[in-house]
Amino acid sequence: MPAARRMILGLNVLGVGQRPAAWQSETLEPTAFIDRDHWVRVAREAERGLLDALFLADQPWLADPSGRPAGALEPTVLLAAVAAHTEQLGLVGTLSSTYNDPVELAARVLTLDHLSGGRAGWNVVTTASPQVGANFGITDDLDRDARYRRAHAVTDTVERLWLGAGTGAPVVVPELGVDAALTLPRSPQGRPAIVRAGGSAEGRRLAGERADAVFTAEMTLDGALEHYRVVKDHAAAVGRDPDAVKVLPGFALVIAATEREALERYDHWESLAPADYTRDRLSGILGVDVSALDPDAQLPPEIGELPDDPSAFESSLSFRSTTVRFARTHRLTVRQLLRAYGGYGHPIIIGTPEQVADTLSSWFLAGAADGFNLMPDVLPEGLTTLVDEVLPLLRARGLFRDAYEAPTLRGRWAA
Ligand SMILES: Cc1cc2nc3c(=O)[nH]c(=O)nc-3n(C[C@H](O)[C@H](O)[C@H](O)COP(=O)(O)O)c2cc1C
Repeated sequence: MPAARRMILGLNVLGVGQRPAAWQSETLEPTAFIDRDHWVRVAREAERGLLDALFLADQPWLADPSGRPAGALEPTVLLAAVAAHTEQLGLVGTLSSTYNDPVELAARVLTLDHLSGGRAGWNVVTTASPQVGANFGITDDLDRDARYRRAHAVTDTVERLWLGAGTGAPVVVPELGVDAALTLPRSPQGRPAIVRAGGSAEGRRLAGERADAVFTAEMTLDGALEHYRVVKDHAAAVGRDPDAVKVLPGFALVIAATEREALERYDHWESLAPADYTRDRLSGILGVDVSALDPDAQLPPEIGELPDDPSAFESSLSFRSTTVRFARTHRLTVRQLLRAYGGYGHPIIIGTPEQVADTLSSWFLAGAADGFNLMPDVLPEGLTTLVDEVLPLLRARGLFRDAYEAPTLRGRWAA
């Protein structure tokens, strides 16, 4: 009998929690986001829950100092520190394919992979903002198509460098100026895992053709079902086993013993956040000044799922399209959308452990996901609740592991 299909569960760690005011938690020092002990505590808690991996975002830009600081440590350096204090947890760092050199990136992630015994993964993103290009001295207009062309070439090159590591056979890619071989031995897991995030049409193709997993943003079940099918179809179209690419939608979580307490918890953290925070996030994702919209009307019809010129749109297309679809599906006014928008492009579950387990199970069993990338509200306490209250429910339903199946990240995903 084939082994039961089980969820992959990642922890997408956003500093000290998904809620913008999480840093004000009485259980945290305000500087926790740069404190190694905070990260180790969170990683060990994730490992106690037998989660697949810690996912870290990439913010390769210097924010306007008059704005809110981005505040993120560099992922591969941070993951190396975490590797030293964990045994099994996968370590997935996001690194831009647009603003990294493929040879240097391949060597850096393979180093992490060796140091962690085969637990490393690279989350490929193309990075949207032209501001970032300016930080790197790149002033060419890198529209989405150009960034995705480069993403395909860089991902292919990095993968070939990893597969050829230690053989001395050079990888030659003139268009990227690459003529190199990695002298390190090959990875304990064959090569580090390739993950990706970004769900525009081209992003879905890149995931299906090349990735071991994709971190998606889908606020509706319908959208998630369609996204899942498209990624798997891309895999099949190039002769891959569709199961070789795992589709992992993000979910933000606010969990409490009762639904009312969960809503109170959500309101509590909202009340501590800057009043315009959610509005600014929504403006950024839609590419529209939300403060100029009528709060008691639905989104105007000219705000479509796709912008007029998708290639030039300076944000993630998938975050925009899923948000617009979500608002239209539920006929939300702008005010209601702002209230329901706490996942910032990902769905948010505000409820009891049973409600969290039910939603995750229903998406998984409906064929909308192979697992999820979860974002607790405040760390580590929200993660502890997930580990102690939600994961046992999923285990009781036979949907999540009782023990790590293999020592490497890719080994587990193949199991
Ligand atoms: C779930 C998700 C996570 C992302 N994480 C990052 C990130 O950590 N760093 C980054 O520069 N861009 C990140 N991006 C943005 C993409 O790199 C960028 O917007 C690009 O345009 C691809 O997105 P798209 O295919 O949805 O348009 C993320 C996008 C999604 C959908």
